[in-house]
Amino acid sequence: MSSSKQATKPGIPNHVGIVMDGNGRWAKSQGKVRLEGHKKGADVARQVVRWAQKLGIRHISLYAFSTENWDRPKLEVRALMGLLAMMLPKTLPEMKENGVRFRVLGDISPLPAKARKAVEQACAETCDNSAIDLILCLNYGGQQEIVAGVQQTVKWLESQSDSEKALAELTPETFRSMLWRHDMAPVDLLIRTGGECRISNFHLWDAAYAELYFSDLFWPDFTENDLQIAVEDYAARERRFGKTSEQVCR
Ligand code: FPP
Repeated sequence: MSSSKQATKPGIPNHVGIVMDGNGRWAKSQGKVRLEGHKKGADVARQVVRWAQKLGIRHISLYAFSTENWDRPKLEVRALMGLLAMMLPKTLPEMKENGVRFRVLGDISPLPAKARKAVEQACAETCDNSAIDLILCLNYGGQQEIVAGVQQTVKWLESQSDSEKALAELTPETFRSMLWRHDMAPVDLLIRTGGECRISNFHLWDAAYAELYFSDLFWPDFTENDLQIAVEDYAARERRFGKTSEQVCR
C-alpha cells in the first residue's frame, strides 16, 4: 500500500503547495457573483487531491484562507466559512475511501464554530490514513507562522541550562522545528494560479528552496492536465540547493 511516508517517485514532487487564485475573476468572466467562483474553486480543490494522488504526490497543501483574507467584505468571509463547513463533511467519505489524511496549517481558533468543528472532525476521522496528506491552510500566514516560531524559540531557550550557547548554536533545522509546519514535509513545488507572480505569505519558510510555478489560468479552470504540465515542468528543473550543477549531477 502506498504511504504518505514512503519515498516519492523520481521527478515527482513530494509536497505540492497551491495558491488557488482567480475565483473572483473567473466568476466575473462568467457573469456570476464571487461566491460562485469560490464554489467552483472548492470543487476543483476537491478534485486536485485525487489528481495529485494519481501522479504519486504524497502531500498537497491548499491555501484556502489567509490571515489577510479576514479583511475581505464580511459577506464574502462568511460565505467562505459557510462553504468550508458545508464542503468538508460532504467530502469526508471520499477522503476516507481514498486514504486521504486531512490536516490543517494555520490557527483555526478564530474560525466560526461550525467551520472549526468540521475541520476538527475531518482531522480526527482521517488521522490514520496514509495514501496522501491534504493540508488545508486556513487562517494561515507565513509571517505569522515565523513570529509564532520565534515565540516558541524564546520559550525553548529559556528552558535551556545555557541559553546563550543554545541561541548561538540555533540552526535553520532547529528553528523549523519551532514552526507550525514542523512535522510536515518541506514544499517542493509551489504553484500559483490566477496570473499573479507572488507568494502572498504562503509557505514562507519552505519557499527558500521550493520550485515556483505560475499559471495564468483562473483556479476554477485548472485541470488534471494542468497539474500534470506543472509537475513535468518541475521534473525538468535542476534543484541545486546552492551547490553546483556538477555536484548535484554526480
Ligand atoms: C483566491 O481567489 C481564492 C481564495 C481567497 C479562496 C480560495 C478558496 C477556495 C478555492 C474554495 C475552497 C476554500 C474554502 C474555504 C471552502 P480570489 O477570490 O482572490 O480571486 P480573484 O483574485 O480573481 O478575485
